[in-house]
Amino acid sequence: MAGPAAVSETNELAQADGHAKRRGGVHVVKHPLVEHHVTRMRRESTRPSEFRDLVRRLAALMAYEATQDLLTKPYRVQTPLCEAEGVQVKGRIGLVPILRAGLGMIDPVLDLLPMAEVWHLGLYRDESTAQPVRYYDKLPAKRPVDVALILDPMLATGGSAMAALSALREWGVPRVKVLSLIAAQEGVDAVASQFPEAQVYVCQIDPVLNASKFIVPGLGDAGDRIFNTIEPRD
Ligand code: PRP
Repeated sequence: MAGPAAVSETNELAQADGHAKRRGGVHVVKHPLVEHHVTRMRRESTRPSEFRDLVRRLAALMAYEATQDLLTKPYRVQTPLCEAEGVQVKGRIGLVPILRAGLGMIDPVLDLLPMAEVWHLGLYRDESTAQPVRYYDKLPAKRPVDVALILDPMLATGGSAMAALSALREWGVPRVKVLSLIAAQEGVDAVASQFPEAQVYVCQIDPVLNASKFIVPGLGDAGDRIFNTIEPRD
C-alpha cells in the first residue's frame, strides 16, 4: 500500500495548536494496483459485474490513502494477557455517496470505517446543460459530522462535487474530502479554486472534457456501467 510519499506534493502538512492539520488540495493516489485496476475499468469490454468489483477495489485503496490524517484518541484495551494502549478514531465520520454512481463505493469504505454514518445525496447532471440537479437530500440541519467523505467515481466539470461541497458547508462540516476514481483536469481545477479547503483524492486525472462534458479518455458513465443501464449504440 502506498504511503504518504505516493501522494502529490499539494498535500501539505501544517502544524497548528499541536495537532497535525492537512490543507486542502488535490491528491493523486499513485500505485501500480490503482493503475492496473483503473485501466481495466476504462476498458469498454469490461462487463458491469467486473466494473463493480473494480470500483470497490479502487474505493478501498483510495479510502486507505484518504484516511491517513484522521485524528485518533487513546484507547486502552484488555488483551488475553494484560492491558495494552491503543487508539480509536476520533470524531464522527460521514460518508456522502452521490447517487447513483457513488453507491458503488459505500460498502468498501464502510468496511474500513464501520462506525461511519452514511448520508445520501441525489444529484444528476442535466444532459443539456451539464449542471447538477439535486433530487435527494436528507442532510439534517444540526449536528454536522466532523469529517465527511464525498463518494463519487467521476468528477467531470466538478459541478456535482461542488454542489455536494456546498451542501456540506451549509450543514457546517469542518473537514471534507472528495473521493473520485477518475477526474478531468478542468473539474479538479474548478473544485480546488472554489473550495480550496477541500481535500480531493483521485486515482487519475484525464486531460479533457468533450463537447458533451464527458471525461476523455475516461470510462464512459460510471453509473450506467455499475448498474448495467447502458443504452445500446444505434
Ligand atoms: C455522473 C458522475 C458524477 C457526475 C460528474 O453522474 O457520477 O456524479 O456525473 O459530472 P460533473 O463533475 O460534471 O458534475 P450522473 O449525472 O451521470 O448520474 P448517475 O450517477 O445517476 O449516473
